[in-house]
Amino acid sequence: MRSLICAASVLGILTAMVLTSPSAGARDDEKPSVEHIMKKLYKGKKATFAEIKAQLKGESPDWKKVEADAKTMEKYLGFLSKGKAPRGDQAHFEKLAGAHLNDVTALDHAAEAKDLDQARAAVKKIGGSCKSCHQAHRPQ
Ligand code: HEC
Repeated sequence: MRSLICAASVLGILTAMVLTSPSAGARDDEKPSVEHIMKKLYKGKKATFAEIKAQLKGESPDWKKVEADAKTMEKYLGFLSKGKAPRGDQAHFEKLAGAHLNDVTALDHAAEAKDLDQARAAVKKIGGSCKSCHQAHRPQ
């Protein structure tokens, strides 16, 4: 009987832990820093944008995945345009971040339409806008 009670309470504790622990990725919904956004979307082979580019290399990408990844980028870049420029003029930063977000929205729409040419064109545009923002706003 004792061991049964013990097992039941362990189970109760475990359930409580599962219920109260923040779900994975919940932190991502809090305002991420510019650095966090850049790392998540752009740094390394597992970065969101790298995954999109890998998919679009082939002739038959997994459009659902491209679309989901594009939506992740939109979510994060929405934070970017509201974030504080680490360096340089804030209005200029917001303008570039807004344009960057628009390019990603174009990618999202291309993925929804399963339009490979449009999607590749959007990726090219996105990749072409990194440098100007870094030159003006990345801390040296
Ligand atoms: C609207 C401005 C803006 C755009 C557009 C932008 N970045 Fe950045 N990026 C920044 C800023 C600002 C930092 C510095 C963040 C910090 O250290 O506080 C940064 C940092 C980075 C870092 C370093 C992250 C780290 O700390 O390890 C990488 C990698 C990066 N960006 C990749 C990219 C790529 C790739 C693109 C284009 C596809 C891009 N960024 C587009 C503003 C931008």
